Amino acid sequence: MMFDIEAVSEALPERAIFWLAETGSTMNDAARLAESGCPSGAVVGAETQFAGQGRHGHGWHSEAGAGLYFSLILRLDLPPEQTPMVTMALGLAAAEAMTQVAGLATDLRWPNDVLIGGRKVSGILVQQNGGALVCGLGINVNQAQFPPDIAEIATSLRIASGREISRERLLIELLPAIDRYLAILATEGKEAVLRLFSHASSFVSGRRVVVDQSGAVLRGTTAGLDADGFLILQQDDGTRTLILAGGVRPV
Ligand code: BTN
Repeated sequence: MMFDIEAVSEALPERAIFWLAETGSTMNDAARLAESGCPSGAVVGAETQFAGQGRHGHGWHSEAGAGLYFSLILRLDLPPEQTPMVTMALGLAAAEAMTQVAGLATDLRWPNDVLIGGRKVSGILVQQNGGALVCGLGINVNQAQFPPDIAEIATSLRIASGREISRERLLIELLPAIDRYLAILATEGKEAVLRLFSHASSFVSGRRVVVDQSGAVLRGTTAGLDADGFLILQQDDGTRTLILAGGVRPV
């Protein structure tokens, strides 16, 4: 069913939301909107993307009408080193909204994947564009199956809950949840977001993982987040390494 943008706009009347039937990637649409001076909080989403972008040059599977694929433009008064905290705030909000709407328990894989039953249900991509943050969220909502290359690692809210989930309700819960977590970051600081993330994620400490890092594969146990939100890895050879980007896999 085509996304009911009117229902969403009615529920969130203050919010600028653009919804496209199809696009290359909402990241590019949002970058253009940001450059044209749109307000902070503006959203551009699409029913399907031909060239959905994931992190590290990956694509994002964007089956028409099945998921939520959107980018949110944020103009925040935050020092650049706090950008990772924005990603965490988005993950916390996405996890909370999914639990609220679909009644499912979620996990957060540092730095920014939402998992259900160990499989990825949502990914987040944050980029800088013309003084704004362009935050892309992809959420698998009503997919019944996935292409073979991701079939083993992906899930959707429908697969996990056994029922269709309203994409509109999810977006109506999610956007205010994002505002709430960003307000926590602004008023209580990064420590508060790091604490919330650490509670919500089974990956932050005591987890056996392998980490792919530019060619090298590190093995060890996670040992918390540092003050900037980077993951501390206690390697099996005794050294402690800060993990700056993703690529963390459980063993
Ligand atoms: C990841 O986990 O690799 C991040 C995936 C981000 C996907 C979303 S879908 C909406 C927005 N438009 C894109 O092209 N990518 C993001």
